[in-house]
Amino acid sequence: MANPKLLLISGSLRKGSYNRMLLAEAAEAFGPAEISDGSLDLPLYDGDLEEAEGVPDAVKHLAQQIKDADAVIIGAPEYNKGITGVLKNGLDWISRVPGAAFKNKPVVVVSASAGRTGGETAQFMTLSCLTQLQARLVPGTAVLIAGAMNAFDDAGKLKDETSRKLLAERMAALRAEVV
Ligand SMILES: Cc1cc2nc3c(=O)[nH]c(=O)nc-3n(C[C@H](O)[C@H](O)[C@H](O)COP(=O)(O)O)c2cc1C
Repeated sequence: MANPKLLLISGSLRKGSYNRMLLAEAAEAFGPAEISDGSLDLPLYDGDLEEAEGVPDAVKHLAQQIKDADAVIIGAPEYNKGITGVLKNGLDWISRVPGAAFKNKPVVVVSASAGRTGGETAQFMTLSCLTQLQARLVPGTAVLIAGAMNAFDDAGKLKDETSRKLLAERMAALRAEVV
């Protein structure tokens, strides 16, 4: 598969998100691919809403993007030593769509956060949720970008050579799963 379908999902909605920057770096390191973005700008999960109106179209669209993708990269920021509400909400909605979108899907989670641990706790929480969703988590050393506000240059590129190398290794492993 020369041009695999790669889906990027950011656990932060903001435009200037460091996790979006990290996802862009990851996609570049992944190599040639048909890249798309999955939006987590979704309604809050509410069982009453689901019962009255069914799964929202935006959720169905995201689930289809995940099913269609050959590989998924998730950028998981850390809020209060945990997964962001936006990301957890998205994963909860996805779990409600019949057909188990993440089942056997090769996934790598990366994180950029302001603190010194680079979002380690949030990343492991995300991996735990993805295990429940039966994703195929591609193993490797965790990509955790600490002090995210100083980690990228003006062009949004990762400054630290060690982090870039680690990211390249993870992306090579992800690519090997699908190519
Ligand atoms: C509500 C909230 C809680 C946060 N808690 C943490 C935290 O526990 N650990 C950490 O490293 N950074 C924490 N931060 C800082 C985030 O890492 C920082 O805002 C980062 O830029 C978020 O990712 P983004 O740039 O992709 O939006 C928190 C930020 C917010 C808004």
